[in-house]
Amino acid sequence: MNYRHSFHAGNFADLVKHALLLWLLAQRQATGPVTVLDTHAGAGLYDLAGDAVRSREAEAGIDRLMASDDRPPLIEALAQAVAETNPGGGVRYYPGSPLLVACRLRSGDRYVGFELNPPVLALLGEVLEPFAAAAARGGDGYDQVLAEAVANPGSFVLIDPPFEQPDDYHRAADTAAAILRGDPTATVAVWTPLKDMETFDGFLRRLAGGGAGRVLVAEARLRPLTNPMTMNGCALVVLNPSEGAEAAATEVCGWVTARLGQAGARAEVWISG
Ligand SMILES: C[S@@+](CC[C@H](N)C(=O)[O-])C[C@H]1O[C@@H](n2cnc3c(N)ncnc32)[C@H](O)[C@@H]1O
Repeated sequence: MNYRHSFHAGNFADLVKHALLLWLLAQRQATGPVTVLDTHAGAGLYDLAGDAVRSREAEAGIDRLMASDDRPPLIEALAQAVAETNPGGGVRYYPGSPLLVACRLRSGDRYVGFELNPPVLALLGEVLEPFAAAAARGGDGYDQVLAEAVANPGSFVLIDPPFEQPDDYHRAADTAAAILRGDPTATVAVWTPLKDMETFDGFLRRLAGGGAGRVLVAEARLRPLTNPMTMNGCALVVLNPSEGAEAAATEVCGWVTARLGQAGARAEVWISG
């Protein structure tokens, strides 16, 4: 377990994931109380004065987002959440998915975040401590989430692995499809990096083979996918997406690629299955 999200917190991929997470959460909440399950929760809050200074990924991501003056509504919603995390101003701290969700829980909503790495789990526990309806659980999120989803029909699941293990694509696809088979009313969002197209296409084929049904694919390609050794973009793949998700993804991926991308950057948003 070498992965440390603190190097990547607030990068373009977090912005795509978190802007859409906020929108998808609001859609589910509009239909009644929701249980949010986060298979790979991370620490919940990141101090951008640490590892992020060396990686400079937040500088190219959230710093530019906060400095921009043309934010469409879904990007503005993320900017507001980041501003709330930094009440003294500036962008010192960046909220991860656990904190973004926990701050938005309403009466009857619940959040459960799974985290495998014990030191990261301890940080997550501290971040979630003030939120009675939010819990941090140790252990493997892939193994535990299906039972939770089936026990809480209509849940909203985020699967956000580090993709440092060779079986992460398979496990993410199989877990997402199994949740939909166990509860067709669940919504599942899976984040993946975009390096080369065959890896991503293989992931989509595996999802379809598992019976995932109708899937929204939201791709933000920051540069042409010519070097498969680097993260050239990212995608959020949403199973059983809410009404309006295509427009929401187009707004988010379009803004991120246009404002933060290199020459040849583009957004691709489409429905598969
Ligand atoms: C990309 S980070 C999560 C970021 C978080 N979802 C967010 O948006 O703020 C991935 C996290 O998953 C953890 N992890 C890796 N494998 C795991 C597994 N099988 N089950 C649960 N957590 C895992 C890593 O320790 C890491 O903290």
